[in-house]
Amino acid sequence: MAIQQQLIQWAGAVTLVAAASSSATAWAEDAHSYARLDDVSTPHLELNLTVDFAEQQLEGTATYDLLRRSDATAIHLDTRDLTIQKTEIWQDGAWQETPFALGEPHQTLGQELTVTIGEDADKLRIHYETAPTASGLQWLTPAQTAGKEHPFMFSQSQPIHARSWIPIQDTPALRLTYNAQVYTPAGLLAVMSADNSLSDDRDGNYSFTMPQPIPPYLIAIAVGDLEIKSISDNVAVFAESYIIDDAAWEWADTPAMITATEKMYGPYRWDRYDLLVLPPSFPFGGMENPRLSFITPTVVSGDRSLINLIAHELAHSWSGNLVTNASWRDLWLNEGFTSYVENRIMEALFGERRAQMELALGYQDLLADMERLPAADTVLNIDLGTRHPDDVFSNVPYVKGQLFLVYLEHKFGRDVFDAFLRQYFADFAFQSISTAQFKHYLAKNLLAKHPNVVSMDKVNEWIHEPGLPADAPKPESDAFAQVERQMQRWLKGGQLQTAEWTTHEWLHFINNLPLDISSTNMKRLDNDYHLTASSNAEIAHAWLKLAITKKYEPARDRLRNYLLNIGRNKLVSPLYRELAKTPENLKWAREVYEQAKSGYHPLTQTVNEALLYPEH
Ligand code: BES
Ligand code: ZN
Repeated sequence: MAIQQQLIQWAGAVTLVAAASSSATAWAEDAHSYARLDDVSTPHLELNLTVDFAEQQLEGTATYDLLRRSDATAIHLDTRDLTIQKTEIWQDGAWQETPFALGEPHQTLGQELTVTIGEDADKLRIHYETAPTASGLQWLTPAQTAGKEHPFMFSQSQPIHARSWIPIQDTPALRLTYNAQVYTPAGLLAVMSADNSLSDDRDGNYSFTMPQPIPPYLIAIAVGDLEIKSISDNVAVFAESYIIDDAAWEWADTPAMITATEKMYGPYRWDRYDLLVLPPSFPFGGMENPRLSFITPTVVSGDRSLINLIAHELAHSWSGNLVTNASWRDLWLNEGFTSYVENRIMEALFGERRAQMELALGYQDLLADMERLPAADTVLNIDLGTRHPDDVFSNVPYVKGQLFLVYLEHKFGRDVFDAFLRQYFADFAFQSISTAQFKHYLAKNLLAKHPNVVSMDKVNEWIHEPGLPADAPKPESDAFAQVERQMQRWLKGGQLQTAEWTTHEWLHFINNLPLDISSTNMKRLDNDYHLTASSNAEIAHAWLKLAITKKYEPARDRLRNYLLNIGRNKLVSPLYRELAKTPENLKWAREVYEQAKSGYHPLTQTVNEALLYPEH
């Protein structure tokens, strides 16, 4: 097992990727995968899949190139709820059937698939089909879509759900290229995290190529009645027709965001950058699938006030997709860096005032999470054990990670820190790295070059200790200070001057209303500013959460409607969590949930069932 380096050939250039002891240890450390990359890895995948809406399943083959690193004669892959029909190896110029075994199902990890590969086969083919309950797919009936005529299907592979629709070495320490052949009913369009075509052909037979090596969690697919609208030469929106014009208008700044990020952190290395609008049941705000970010329709607010989410998913094209966390313990390397870059993009395009408001809102969310979470889960390099990463999702990797980088920026100065980041993205491009590797790189390329600015002890405190260091930045916003002054006057009966307020000021206002606010004041606010009726999903969320706490009954119908129509977990689960606090509300919440459930994504179901039925 002495392979020191792996050659990755990409776009004519040959990159040397250190696969020596450092990555080998990173591999061994992924507790969320059965893969053993130091025996054999799978640098290329060919998918051949039929999308069967009637059975709600994918059926076909996954064919891998094998890269051997030891004399092991078996390969170990991850699966979850897959039916494996047959496994074959390419040997002596032909496909030959080979034995496989599925391990006992594990609650978090799924099932280990072990396949005999002999001594010199260099390809493996797996024939399989998915279950209708696949944790990484959502199948929507025509009735559950906006257009009502065609079904919709999409994947969400991050963090460990790729294994529920592809038998795969499902660790972000692996990087692989892929090609795919996808068959759908005619009239529907399939898109993937690959080279989507802008053609209006809908013949049900689609080919894809992803030539850059990506981690498995970035393999993505969606199929639906999609239209395409270009924003620029290299940016287009894919969406159902009801929202395509609105989305293209909402996200018109995307090309400028790309230019601004390239200027700060180096070239965009993925060719096109398209945006796909998912149904409202999409469990996240956005997902950075390469070349095609998946986006919730709940950020199409009509005023471009929530486009930091686009900045965020775009930023992942550097932090996350180019330089990738090697395990889910290192998620902060993806999300903390991305939140930092996101805020820098927002500042570059819209100025400091807006960026500062967004940073301050994030900081407040972080403080709220830190109060709720056990101390051990407020550590950046979190100890997950074999807990499911979805169960530990919080603002910690995002905002604490971001604050760490803001701290470094303040200490070293923006010019020095930007140059460091730019070089970091170049040096680790198309590689997966661990927290330990990052620390090593930081010590060498920033701390040592500017001695006595930040100590390694301080870095370790940020990365390995719970909570926030005493000298952590405490983001504040002048705009919010003004909102607070107005709030004090308003609570005494004065009028609010809200003409200039953006979504951000409203969110700050609602989130910071005193918990003993009177029901008269709740009514006054709602009558004057129609918060129950707000069509901005974030404002409505903040208001409905307060309405639950304050037992403000006029919002009840809107709350039911909201929970029935939106499945983005960040918007839904704080509401269920709040409802679960009193027996009457819990009873009501369970009724609404049972009605909403069939429209929710598997992830939204799992997370909220844990809140509503904790005894199960
Ligand atoms: N990659 C994440 C979503 C994710 C993280 C899925 C971890 C599964 C495991 C995505 O980029 C994200 O962070 N989305 C946020 C955006 C927000 C912070 C602007 C979301 O969905 O709310
Ligand atoms: Zn993210």
